[in-house]
Amino acid sequence: MQISLDYTNMMTEAVGSEFGIHDDDISGLFAQTKEIHRQISARRERGELPFYDLPDSSEIVAEISTLASEVQENFDNLVVLGIGGSALGTTAIFNALCYGHNLLDPQQRDGSPRLFVLDNVDPDGFSAHLAFCDPARTCFIVISKSGTTVETTSQFLVARQWIEESVGDCYQDHFILITDPKSGVLRELADREGYRSCAIPAGVGGRFSVFTAVGLLPLACVGVDIARLLKGAADFSRFVCHDDLETNPAYLNAALQYLAYQKGLKLSVLMPYSDRLKDIADWYRQLWAESLGKKFAVDGSVCHVGPTPVNALGTTDQHSQVQLYVEGPFDKVVTFIVVDEYDRDLQMPHYGAAPEMTYLAGHSMGELIHVEQQATAAALTRNQRSNCAIHLPEVSAESVGALIYMFEVQTLFAGYLFEVDPLDQPGVEEGKHFTYALMGRQGYDEKAAEYASIKAQAQPRVLSCE
Ligand code: PA5
Repeated sequence: MQISLDYTNMMTEAVGSEFGIHDDDISGLFAQTKEIHRQISARRERGELPFYDLPDSSEIVAEISTLASEVQENFDNLVVLGIGGSALGTTAIFNALCYGHNLLDPQQRDGSPRLFVLDNVDPDGFSAHLAFCDPARTCFIVISKSGTTVETTSQFLVARQWIEESVGDCYQDHFILITDPKSGVLRELADREGYRSCAIPAGVGGRFSVFTAVGLLPLACVGVDIARLLKGAADFSRFVCHDDLETNPAYLNAALQYLAYQKGLKLSVLMPYSDRLKDIADWYRQLWAESLGKKFAVDGSVCHVGPTPVNALGTTDQHSQVQLYVEGPFDKVVTFIVVDEYDRDLQMPHYGAAPEMTYLAGHSMGELIHVEQQATAAALTRNQRSNCAIHLPEVSAESVGALIYMFEVQTLFAGYLFEVDPLDQPGVEEGKHFTYALMGRQGYDEKAAEYASIKAQAQPRVLSCE
């Protein structure tokens, strides 16, 4: 499997010296890269970065596959309850490898359940999904590393009652809890109330957890070959776990994004030319934003850094966003994901009644989407807009596993370049605490007072039209 990073159009020769990157900019990071890599390796040895080694864990495949077979036997619907890192990776891989799965009839699905990943507390959306499902044939996987996330807790409470009302005392059989191995309310519930459960290994944060039960269990239940997914990541690790910046695509892409940011290109667009990879860009958006968007640098100084990730879809967003990318402010880097070989292709036939369409006859849709990506890259480059492309040979369990692993390593390395901790998310915690305070959770009185004082300081200005 060959994955390549084409960064021709990031360089000065292609987009000019104001925004383009010079070879010297890259070589200027060689020594720093070696030092960062040394620090990462030391942390790995101390067991502080366990996400690196998840693809090598063979026991997990057997454990997950057994549980997945039980789910397949007993349920027609599988609903994941979780948010952020507990949901986005599953959605991304599900849509990449099982595109259209829920629209197939049970026979075509080979006995596997439909999968719904619910990551919101919009009562309209949530109840509409429950209405699709027969409670007696529905299993919920409740995922929360902390066990305290309010959205997941709220979903769980509603779903548990909904199931109990239908099946009575055996409602626990309809839930699998995935949470911290030792602490948190979900762990306590699993131990006390007899729910089945899986552990998220200690030290693996939400957005780096897709290769644990968090992603692997729901994906195995719908028939994803999780062994191949992990093998793709494990095999690719040899390309992204060494200290040579020029030949390590994860480090190089992080460095290119970092250098572009220093030149004022602070928005980072990820634009797959594949419907199946659309949600990979969504997953990556969270990974990049939550990991790199920080107020404090690791030395404690205030830095307020972080490239803003934007997701787009080719060709769709050529008719939505690309006008802005080509002519708007010089503040973006566009990274395309190109699929070299689609699983299927469709030939465009000749249609005699429409002579103005004949230029397409004999070409294929696969050819057209490739040409459109190249045309967009050319339009951007001609207008001095930095862009690069990650090429995947095809969309497969191996290539998706490799891509995800590459992005995880890239994000960690970028954290070092930006001098922030890519593994924490203090800004998210703040909003969570205000929510707890407003929902009356015990111990949050001070936060409630702080909220009241913020509100009191502002003069309300509301324009209502009735
Ligand atoms: O990446 C992260 O750590 C977050 O996005 C979390 O996954 C998200 O906040 C949900 O947290 P939890 O798994 O504790 O419910």
